[in-house]
Amino acid sequence: MNQRVFSGMRPTGQLHLGHLAGALTNWIKLQDGYDCFYSIVDWHALMSDYADSSKIESNCREVLIDWLSSGLDPEKCVIFVQSHVPQHAELHLALSMVTPLGWLQRCPTYKEQIINIQNKDLSNYAFLGYPVLMAADILLYKAGIVPVGEDQSAHLEIAREMVRRFNGFFGEVLVEPQIMLTPTPKVPGTDGKKMSKSYGNSINLADSPEDVWNKLRTMVTDPAREKRTDPGDPEKCPVWDIHKVFNNSDSEKAEIAEGCRTAGIGCVDCKKKLKVHVERVMNPIREKRAYYEKNPDLLGDILREGAVKAGAVARKTMDEVVAALGF
Ligand code: ADP
Ligand code: NA
Repeated sequence: MNQRVFSGMRPTGQLHLGHLAGALTNWIKLQDGYDCFYSIVDWHALMSDYADSSKIESNCREVLIDWLSSGLDPEKCVIFVQSHVPQHAELHLALSMVTPLGWLQRCPTYKEQIINIQNKDLSNYAFLGYPVLMAADILLYKAGIVPVGEDQSAHLEIAREMVRRFNGFFGEVLVEPQIMLTPTPKVPGTDGKKMSKSYGNSINLADSPEDVWNKLRTMVTDPAREKRTDPGDPEKCPVWDIHKVFNNSDSEKAEIAEGCRTAGIGCVDCKKKLKVHVERVMNPIREKRAYYEKNPDLLGDILREGAVKAGAVARKTMDEVVAALGF
C-alpha cells in the first residue's frame, strides 16, 4: 500500500469539536508519517448549496484558519483549495464515463438525503454525482489511504469500483484507495444529537471561553436527573460522551461516573470539570487563530503553495488518464 493520504472537508463555515475529534486529530497524526494531501473541497460545498455561494470564499478562510490552528502544518502536508486545481473537474468528467447511474442512485447517502432534506433543491446532476467528484479528488493523487468517517464508506466503495472499471477499459492508470476508518465516537452537540453545524448545537473552535461555558452550562444531561439528588446514568448523558473524548484523566472520569450514579456530584459540577479539559484543548487553538487573523497574507501564501504542489501531482495523473483514453 502506498503512503499517500487524501482527505477533504467542505467549507461550510466554522469547524467544531466534532470535526476536531472525528477528523482533524487523526489528520494531524498522519501528517508526520505519511504524504498527506488535505483539501478544502469548495466545489462540493457549492453542489449542495449553489443557491448561496456568497459565503464559500470566507468559509474557505475559516476552515483554513481552523486547520492551521488545530495543528495541520503546511511544512508537513499539502493544504489546498479544490477549485485551485482544475484537474479535479477534468477527472470528474473522465470518471463520469465509467460510472453507471445505478451506482449513484443506489448510494445510501443519496437515497437518505433525497428523502430527508426538504429545504434544498437536490434534483440536479451535481448532487447525484457527488461520489464521482469525491472519487476524482482521491484518485487524482493516487492516494492509497483515505481517512474518513463511516458515513463516507459507501462513497469510497464507489471510488474503488470506478478504478477497477476504468483500469479494466483503459489500462492500469488509477490506484484503488483503502478506507482508514477514524476510530472516534460521534461527538454529541448541546442538544444530545450528533454535533453538527446544521443542527445549531455545536461548540466551535472559534468560540470564546464564555461562549463555550454558556453552551456547556445549558447542555442537556441524563433526563432522569431532574433534581440534584437524583442519581443518573452516565451512559445516557451526552456531557459524559464529551468527557470520554476530551477528558484525559482516567481517575477523574471514574470519580465523575461514580458521582453521577450515586448523585455524589451534580450536573453543573460535572460540566465545570469538562470545561477545564475542553479549554485545555481549545486555548492553544485560540492563540494560533489570533495569530493567523493578524497575518492574513500568510493564508494566501499557504494556499498558493499548496495549489502548486497539488497541481504538479494532479497534472501528471491527468496526463496519464488522457493518454490512456487515447487522445
Ligand atoms: P461534510 O463536510 O462532509 O458534510 P461534516 O461537516 O459532517 O461532513 O464533517 C466532516 C467530518 O468531520 C465527518 O466525516 C466526520 O469524520 C467529522 N465529524 C463531523 N461532525 C462530527 C461529530 N459530531 N462527531 C465526530 N466526528 C464528526
Ligand atoms: Na507528511
